[in-house]
Amino acid sequence: MYEVVKAEKLTPDVTRLELKAPHIAKKAKAGQFVMLTVDEHGERIPLTMADFSAEKGTVTIAALEIGKTTKKLGTLKAGDKMFSLVGPLGLPTESHKYGTVCCIGGGIGLALMYPVVRALKEAGNKTISIIGAKNEKLLIYEKEIQSVSDEFYVCTDDGSKGHHGFVSDILKKLIADKRDVKMVYAVGPIIMMKVISNITQPHGIHTVVSLNPIMVDGTGMCGSCRVIIGGETKFGCVDGPEFDGHKVDFDNLIARNRRYMAEEQISLKKFQEGK
Ligand code: FES
Repeated sequence: MYEVVKAEKLTPDVTRLELKAPHIAKKAKAGQFVMLTVDEHGERIPLTMADFSAEKGTVTIAALEIGKTTKKLGTLKAGDKMFSLVGPLGLPTESHKYGTVCCIGGGIGLALMYPVVRALKEAGNKTISIIGAKNEKLLIYEKEIQSVSDEFYVCTDDGSKGHHGFVSDILKKLIADKRDVKMVYAVGPIIMMKVISNITQPHGIHTVVSLNPIMVDGTGMCGSCRVIIGGETKFGCVDGPEFDGHKVDFDNLIARNRRYMAEEQISLKKFQEGK
């Protein structure tokens, strides 16, 4: 059992939990994820870590409450126990010294972007961050990301804060201004990562995306998280979750992530009806 040290709502639909897990915190690196089960009868879901502290012995996760399990997560309070937590899983972000890097995040992806920008900054890179959300109220991890960024841009779809438009608009401008961006990192909605990868490809800018395929075991055994990378089948859990954005078959990923939509809706309905 894993104790919830702190629970808070970042937005009405996003919960952040800090969990006591010293053995995971000790080994965790930016870009890695954990598999968690809220209670004995719950499903296993992967969540990329939003933070970790070896000193405190805690890992932090942030979840958008859209399905049964993430809604259950949202009910946890400090002092509650989580049934299981496995990790750290997946490969860490390759935080080399590239020079100037541009990290782009959207929606819940902003939570996992924070440790990645921090790791890239610690590796000696100049960090440009572009963050986006539908509106100002849905922007999360803004202060944290800004604190590790040399240059920082905010975008909202409705113009309530920062640039009125998409994160890709700012990236296009940086490229047009001939900024010497050596690496682009994108995490967020699949369609956003696809657009970013399509923008950087003709310019030959190395682009890394953090994928979110459906996972079951998270250890390379079940094949549920198959993704197509450069025409080859890879497993998101052990070969990723980060991949070369120019090689990802995004349309296949979108189709595979929709596989269980009907079942997920039934499960959520039953949960909301208290069954
Ligand atoms: S989640 Fe089962 S192989 Fe990746």
